[in-house]
Amino acid sequence: MADRLSGELYHTKFDPKTYLGYCYQFSESPGQKDNSRFVLFVLSQLSHTFSSGQYRGQRLVEVGTGPTIHTLISACEYYEEMVVSDYVEGNRTEIQKWLRAEGGCFDWDEHIQYVCELEEGKRTPAAVKQTLRQRIKQVLKCDISLAESENPFHPTAVEAADCVVSSLCLEAACRDRASYRRSLGAMVGLLRPGGVLVLIGDLDETFYTVGSQKFATVTLSQDFIELTLAELGVRVQQFVLQPALNSELNLKCDYKASFYLVAHKN
Ligand SMILES: C[S@@+](CC[C@H](N)C(=O)[O-])C[C@H]1O[C@@H](n2cnc3c(N)ncnc32)[C@H](O)[C@@H]1O
Repeated sequence: MADRLSGELYHTKFDPKTYLGYCYQFSESPGQKDNSRFVLFVLSQLSHTFSSGQYRGQRLVEVGTGPTIHTLISACEYYEEMVVSDYVEGNRTEIQKWLRAEGGCFDWDEHIQYVCELEEGKRTPAAVKQTLRQRIKQVLKCDISLAESENPFHPTAVEAADCVVSSLCLEAACRDRASYRRSLGAMVGLLRPGGVLVLIGDLDETFYTVGSQKFATVTLSQDFIELTLAELGVRVQQFVLQPALNSELNLKCDYKASFYLVAHKN
C-alpha cells in the first residue's frame, strides 16, 4: 500500500477545489506557478499527439487523475472507454460531479474551447463534452505505489490498456527513485504490448503546495526517466521540455522544467 505517511497526507490534506483553483484556473497571480503556461503546454502537446488519430483503441487508462479531466479532451475521440483513477476520494468525487454536470463542479469550458481552437473547429466544445461524459466509464480508486505484481485498482480488474496517461502523479505518489521505478513499472504493466504511454511531470522538483499544504516530490531528471523506461522495455518517441520561467519568484513549487513524453511498450 501507499507509503503510509504520504498516503495519509493525501487522504486528509489534498483539497481538490484548492488544487483546481491553484493549477487549472486560467489566471496569473504573483508567486504562483505560471499556471496558464503549464496548462497550455500540456493541452497543446496532447492535441499534437492525439488529434491526428494515429493513436486509437478500445481502452485508455489514466493513473492519478486527481480532480481533473483536461488530459482526455484530445484523446476522448479515439478510445471507446476511458478509465480514470485516483488515490483520494475527494478527487474522484470531483470528477463524478463534472461527469454529472452538477452545480458547483469545476468549469473546464475554457480548456475544451482552447483544444477545439487548436483542432481548427474539427469538433465543437459541446460535442467534446458529450464525448467525454459518455466515454469516461469508470472512476476508480487507485494506489500506484503497490508492488508491480499487484493490481493498483484492487478490487476492480481492468483489462490491458491501449493507452496509459498520467500527469504529475508518480513524483507525488512515490517517496524516492526506487519506488518511482517500481510504480512506473506497475503503470507500464497496465499497457498491452505495443500500447502507448503519455507521461507528464516536473523535473528537479522537491515539493509543491496546494494552498498552505506542502507535498514532497521525488526529484527527477530526463536521464533517469529515459533510462528507467528503457529498462522497463518502453521506447521513448518524444520527450519535450518546457523550462520554468522566473523560478526564483515561484513560491508554489520548485520545479525547473515540465516534461511531456510519448513512449511505446515493446
Ligand atoms: C499533483 S496531483 C496531479 C493531479 C492531476 N493528474 C494533474 O495533472 O493535475 C498528484 C495526484 O496523485 C495522486 N496520488 C497520490 N498518491 C497516489 C497513489 N499512491 N496512487 C495513485 N494516485 C496517487 C493524488 O491524489 C493527486 O491527485
